[in-house]
Amino acid sequence: MTGGSAPVLRRIVVLTSGGDAPGMNAALRAVVRRAVASRVGVLAARRGFQGLVDWDVVPMAASSVAEIVHRGGTVILAGRSQAFVRPEVQAACAARLRDEGVDGLVVIGGDGSLRGALALERLGVPTVGVPGTIDNDLPGTDRSIGFDTAVNTVVEAIDRIRDTATSHERTFVVEVMGRETGFIALHAGLADGAESIVVPEVGVDADGVVERILRGRRRGKLYSIIVVAEGATSGYSLAQKLRERGVEARVTVLGHVQRGGAPSAYDRWLAARLGAAAVDLLRSGRHGVMVGVRGEAVVATDLAEVVSARPPFDRSLWELAQVLSS
Ligand code: F6P
Repeated sequence: MTGGSAPVLRRIVVLTSGGDAPGMNAALRAVVRRAVASRVGVLAARRGFQGLVDWDVVPMAASSVAEIVHRGGTVILAGRSQAFVRPEVQAACAARLRDEGVDGLVVIGGDGSLRGALALERLGVPTVGVPGTIDNDLPGTDRSIGFDTAVNTVVEAIDRIRDTATSHERTFVVEVMGRETGFIALHAGLADGAESIVVPEVGVDADGVVERILRGRRRGKLYSIIVVAEGATSGYSLAQKLRERGVEARVTVLGHVQRGGAPSAYDRWLAARLGAAAVDLLRSGRHGVMVGVRGEAVVATDLAEVVSARPPFDRSLWELAQVLSS
């Protein structure tokens, strides 16, 4: 939505919501510093939307975001507010924001958080979303903040598992996050040469996985790594299916390890650009959108569009991974 001739932006609120993602701090820093440089007042709501519900907000200065660009997590805390889901609570938050003289909101988070952002936009709060989730499951951007770091974390973990898998000639099933999508599994599995990548977008084919393991053994391969996305099936269920087919496998569930750690250079770069762009859009009178990147360019996509679809899954990459590891 475009607000015609842009009124002067006076005061914004920023929040980080949903599961934290490496790079959220860097995005917060960019929002705050861009706002301060543009003489826009900036407040941070703590614990995501819950901070609006409780009006737990803190004024931010350029110095408030010093020394955080390299830190994982989010210094203003994150969360999935149960209260904020209720329409009457959302309406009360919108009214409070207006009463407090807030004329812009920046929501840094994933799918659920951007739904909350859209709800407030529809209630008259000019809102811009910044994609912050390790899952990379949002259309309107090539990458979400945190994905690159998470993939690197998974790759590092698999490298370590590979050492012990090789030494003991074992098969390992490594379960990774991604909610309903297989983007982390696909990217990490391709990068790490996993023998099989099991993702919800393709489906679970235990017979196919076993066939690949046995084919590898016939060629003299003494170990196998199978990466499974949590949205396809659990690592333990897959291992059970393999056991029923005569293949013993150890299971590693990487879990929240994937959400922590210092953000990669790419995630910091992305966070800097998108955080600043969110403030720039609000200042220009544009809102109701999520900022994202296409290649090097910053783009904006309607929030309604972002929350109504998933980005396309590149099956050719999955097939390439199969070819390269066979
Ligand atoms: O959306 C990020 C994410 O880490 C997903 O990959 C995962 O399914 C979920 O959050 C885990 O949520 P929680 O931290 O609430 O267990």
